[in-house]
Amino acid sequence: MDVEIRRLAAEDYDAASAFVWREFLQETSARMTQAGVSVFRDYVQPDALRARDAAGAETLVAVEGDDIIGLLHVRQSHISLFFVAAACRWRGVGRRLFETLDGAHRLRSVHSSIEAVEVYEKLGFRRAGPEQVRDGLRFIPMERSSGAQNGRMDTPSPSRSAKCIQRRRAMDSALQEQPRGDLTIKIIAMPADTNANGDIFGGWVLSQMDAAGGIAGVDRAGGRVVTIKVDTMTFIRPIRVGDVLNVFTEVESVGRTSMKIHIEAWVNRFITNKLEKVTDATFTFVAIDDQGRPRPIPREEGARAETLST
Ligand SMILES: CC(C)(COP(=O)(O)OP(=O)(O)OC[C@H]1O[C@@H](n2cnc3c(N)ncnc32)[C@H](O)[C@@H]1OP(=O)(O)O)[C@@H](O)C(=O)NCCC(=O)NCCS
Repeated sequence: MDVEIRRLAAEDYDAASAFVWREFLQETSARMTQAGVSVFRDYVQPDALRARDAAGAETLVAVEGDDIIGLLHVRQSHISLFFVAAACRWRGVGRRLFETLDGAHRLRSVHSSIEAVEVYEKLGFRRAGPEQVRDGLRFIPMERSSGAQNGRMDTPSPSRSAKCIQRRRAMDSALQEQPRGDLTIKIIAMPADTNANGDIFGGWVLSQMDAAGGIAGVDRAGGRVVTIKVDTMTFIRPIRVGDVLNVFTEVESVGRTSMKIHIEAWVNRFITNKLEKVTDATFTFVAIDDQGRPRPIPREEGARAETLST
């Protein structure tokens, strides 16, 4: 299915606003403060988009089938919003939106998200200063000199199709993934838990997961346990102050003295309350006796260990 690039029609404003908000929440919002998320939400309301377009701004959308998969909103020569659906990136949709409006507006400046800097460089922009935070929104100011080319290295292919519908559906179903296991710890992320970037320390999350695994381990082993191993952990997305961390645990397998516990960390985002997975890992715990020596784990769930029942 081909991608159509067109001006936003009067009846499209609700869908366009929902598209941008959804893309923003999935990715870009994680690097903004809560105030920035509110400012952005107001900025992309259908009425706000409509009012700016009525006052001379312009909005283009990329449409595949019935779905909006990209949007570019410019005011004079400044790029205010530029989003392509995550499943449809790297396929030239952004460049087509950009080139279509560039003819009329000669786009010169943008406050780029950190992730988009390389894209803008390929479109002929250069960094015009260090990273800034304004109204809670983080950006890198970028400009394009009047003589700059748009950075294209090859010949455009205007009919390049995104063909991303299937991928988008797969990503949507991944987003609908549900936590695995029992909710074991629920705790709010506080300012004291942040690193220099303002994100919550990975170590804080790890310690909460370890504590939750310990609770589940004590339950299963009927007494003290110690952590001996954590398998690879990838932090899928950052946690910010005000998010509520939920740690889920599930005993995966039980050996003689050790057991593996699958642990997932999810957050409820501060403003939206949206539940998002942050990371997961499998922890190995060993049951120990009062002297700190490994002891057998009862075969039956809920049984007390021999060493503790005497
Ligand atoms: C920025 C964005 C709109 C670009 O859309 P896109 O459809 O992926 O862009 P294109 O496929 O047309 O790529 C444009 C150029 O950037 C390059 N590019 C795309 N993604 C890139 C990436 N992650 N890293 C480096 N280069 C990239 C492409 O190779 C292409 O260069 P070329 O035409 O010289 O080959 C999209 O990445 C996006 O929605 N990002 C998240 C939201 C965001 O940060 N928006 C900017 C707010 S200021």
